[in-house]
Amino acid sequence: MLDTITPAPTLVRTDDPGHDPARAARRWQRLHRLFARSRALRAVTVGGLARIELGIQGGHKCPDIMATIRRVRGERESLLSGNEAFMIYSLARAQSRLDGEMAEVGVYQGCSAKLISLAGRPRRLHLFDTFAGLPEPVSGERRAMSKGHYAASLGAVQAYLADQPNLEFHQGMFSGTNNPAAASRFSLVHLDVDLYEGTRECLEFFYPRMLPGGIIVSHDYSYLAGVRAAFDEFLADRPEIAIELPSSQVMVVKLPQNG
Ligand SMILES: C[S@@+](CC[C@H](N)C(=O)[O-])C[C@H]1O[C@@H](n2cnc3c(N)ncnc32)[C@H](O)[C@@H]1O
Repeated sequence: MLDTITPAPTLVRTDDPGHDPARAARRWQRLHRLFARSRALRAVTVGGLARIELGIQGGHKCPDIMATIRRVRGERESLLSGNEAFMIYSLARAQSRLDGEMAEVGVYQGCSAKLISLAGRPRRLHLFDTFAGLPEPVSGERRAMSKGHYAASLGAVQAYLADQPNLEFHQGMFSGTNNPAAASRFSLVHLDVDLYEGTRECLEFFYPRMLPGGIIVSHDYSYLAGVRAAFDEFLADRPEIAIELPSSQVMVVKLPQNG
């Protein structure tokens, strides 16, 4: 049955006759560069959108949970929209039923990590980041991002998350710091590293360590060509498919046959 599964076609807009994917990609890259450079712009745009989305959700979702997400989203700078923050909370809550550990690669100031910790109460939450910002992007990504974007202090993030249990911080490049998690099995992994190489390395590492039914969710699949290419290439010869979410996120559910 698995042999009959074919990759899902992309849901990102590519079929409009007047639409040039290369031009659209360049537009996103320019926009992302502006965002990465300007905290004020992020506060107005991403922050404003998050408030609107969380306000809309407040009309029909559990008030206590919405209050928690709104509070955490407001405590630190984050690139998550309101819907994305909700999705992370919801996935962590759902995946806490599996007996696995959780991980995030791309912690920045700790907002998404706190949501995972509060919702999932994982027996261990691995937090990977250089805490010096993005590494050098490959050539095609330089238009959108530069080395050092989104640097955050490890000490400040540890202080912010000090009241959360079972956290394990791994400072440095993911490829050089993942060894302590090599024997772990994961119920949920959140990727938010913005770049092709890092995303690809994370998929190579986590995929074989996911529990059946475990979920890998990533930010920026719809916006950043490198993130998208890493997922699409990695999944090309595997039975799982990329499930695009209405925001920028994508998720992959590990099938039991490959557990
Ligand atoms: C956009 S930020 C993460 C935002 C965060 N998840 C949030 O919601 O606020 C991207 C982060 O990925 C980290 N990063 C990128 N590539 C990495 C790699 N190969 N290894 C470790 N950290 C990496 C950067 O240091 C940066 O903090």
